[in-house]
Amino acid sequence: MGIIDKIRFKAALNLKRIVLPEGDEARTIQAAATVMREKLALPILLGEPEAIHTKATALGADLEGIAIINPLTSEYAPHYAQELYALRKAKGVTPEDAARLVSDSMYYGIMMVKCGDADGLVSGAVHTTGDMLRPALQIIKTKPGIRTVSSSFLMDCPNKALGEDGLLVYADCVVVPCPTAEELAEIAVTAAETARNLCGIREPRVALLSFSTKGSAKHELVEKVQKAVEIARALAPDVLLDGEMQLDAALVPEIGASKAPGSPVAGRANVLIFPDLQAGNIGYKLTQRIGGAECFAVLQGLAAPCNDLSRGCSAEDIVNTIAITAVQAQAD
Ligand code: ACO
Repeated sequence: MGIIDKIRFKAALNLKRIVLPEGDEARTIQAAATVMREKLALPILLGEPEAIHTKATALGADLEGIAIINPLTSEYAPHYAQELYALRKAKGVTPEDAARLVSDSMYYGIMMVKCGDADGLVSGAVHTTGDMLRPALQIIKTKPGIRTVSSSFLMDCPNKALGEDGLLVYADCVVVPCPTAEELAEIAVTAAETARNLCGIREPRVALLSFSTKGSAKHELVEKVQKAVEIARALAPDVLLDGEMQLDAALVPEIGASKAPGSPVAGRANVLIFPDLQAGNIGYKLTQRIGGAECFAVLQGLAAPCNDLSRGCSAEDIVNTIAITAVQAQAD
């Protein structure tokens, strides 16, 4: 069973309420109907009910049992506006701003999650990554003890000798463009948590990647990764974590043994931490496009799960992201 089938199986064991701010978008409507039919979660569509039902009929999507909420007429909107104002007034948000913001389905959905009226949120079929990330960062904030929200990509590779039976967790590929050593350390620790809680990897083995292995090259970029390793070890002494190391030393047992002898991670890493967003983003796309891996994105470190889609996503991609979000919500 591939990772996404395992996640879908787990999602179905304890149904979570997942709000979909892009509720009037065709792929989202189809995905909500599938999620309901396959009992993977309880979707909530945001938008104008009549327009959603008309589209669903045209698509042949059955929305029976799915909650549809119009942020423009919702009785909860004034409450969410009040809460939003209380949360953001120190940042200059006025009561009028807050009322206007919650009439936007993205902010309404984020406030539903913040107020405990939904367990997670999925969007991005229409909106950009930043459109969803910014309100999530501003309102939902981070989990206790974590300061950096980041992402992991679950890479299901055809080569089953790699990582955990072909599964590798990559971080960060979406959020933090140029992490400090402290941020890189937090990304490593949260990716290990994602590997454990979402992917069911019992022993995450985390490699912090560089163009150098154990001091083979001297450069300030290498020193940043070395410092991140030290900080991450102090943050999570129970996690198997090592670096800095090159990708081949992380993945290939013989190279790991020769370049980083005695390392508990080298040659058998299942979590790869990239030194910055350019490396991470390029790395996952190389693995997907050239290596033939299936990949699934997840945001980590938020106090409640919110996940982003690619604007080119299919309805099936949305179903998978809803299942991922539901499993993250189960762990919260
Ligand atoms: N973790 C926690 N909080 C954060 C983070 C973070 N990584 N980044 C920003 N914040 C907080 C800030 O502290 C601030 O909080 P406050 O308003 O309460 O003080 C709030 O979020 C907004 O911060 P800004 O710095 O104003 O936000 P910014 O405009 O820089 O946007 C964003 C943040 C959207 C995450 C930005 O870093 C970004 O655009 N990242 C890259 C996203 C991207 O385009 N990814 C690649 C494409 S996706 C793909 O290929 C799959």
